Amino acid sequence: MKVFVNAQIPQIGMEILQKENIEVIFPENENDAEWLENCKKADAILNVGKHQFDKEFFDECPNIKAIALFSVGFDNVNVQQANARKIPIGNTPDVLSRATSDVAFLLMQMVSRKATYNIDKVKSGNWKDFDALEELGQELYGKTLGIYGLGRIGFEMAEKCKKAFEMNIIYHNRSRNSDAENKLEAQYVSFEDLVKRSDVLSINANYTEEQAGIFNTEIFEKMKSNAIFINTARGGFHSEDDLLHALKTREIWGAGLDVTNPEPMDKDHPLLELSNVCVLPHIGSATVEARNGMAKLAAENIVAFAKGEAMPNCANPEVYQN
Ligand code: DGY
Repeated sequence: MKVFVNAQIPQIGMEILQKENIEVIFPENENDAEWLENCKKADAILNVGKHQFDKEFFDECPNIKAIALFSVGFDNVNVQQANARKIPIGNTPDVLSRATSDVAFLLMQMVSRKATYNIDKVKSGNWKDFDALEELGQELYGKTLGIYGLGRIGFEMAEKCKKAFEMNIIYHNRSRNSDAENKLEAQYVSFEDLVKRSDVLSINANYTEEQAGIFNTEIFEKMKSNAIFINTARGGFHSEDDLLHALKTREIWGAGLDVTNPEPMDKDHPLLELSNVCVLPHIGSATVEARNGMAKLAAENIVAFAKGEAMPNCANPEVYQN
């Protein structure tokens, strides 16, 4: 069996593949044309990055029988098409929940204290005398954190906010999270209430096309004027133009993004000029610990597939039903 590993991954993952004598195809240039050519030669792919696995891909690469993603998100895969071909999609849940929620927590604090503005001030030599009124931040103690999509990452974010700032937790989900309700006194609310009551609104949901741009002008207008909007999930959840408008007109107070639409964000994007915005380049899982965990899970998914077993972390387990 040939596996195409399309980019460097932590050694631990490669060792797992080597131990099982799995033949690995490795790219020379990592460009899109080469990526497709290698996919055509392989039985399975361990994929790093946001390549699209759409109908066109599956039609062009009929040899591919399994996809092991180096990510928890699988919004780049057309699951229906994969299911129709009985192709399992492996992903990497849990191992990056702490790291990604750390980034949500970091962004919340950076925005609340206007960190980007202040770092720029130091770097540009504009650190002047003490000014009692300049660009003041806001404190988070006892405020309300609203989580859109309270799963594993959302739980970690909520727990940190509760412990650090005694924040009240409200959430909106497809289903109730009893663990969060019991351990964090999280309260389930409607989407409308989430939007209206949150002082900090953090998106921690899995992205699907139906949710494209759901955070738009209509929603930002309903949010509190002191609200901080945090997105560490996928850029598609928010409209960047509407967010810019909401920030400029002070409908909301600030925004922290680890994900943008598109990625990478243009370096001249007007959002980057605002003092109440902090943008990071999709670094949610960028820790040694999380990336090692992801490499291990992705490689284990490939090994399971090679042995004819179900992938231990599979986004579409329905493919294993008859
Ligand atoms: C994930 O694992 O989904 C992260 O966002 C990296 O893509």
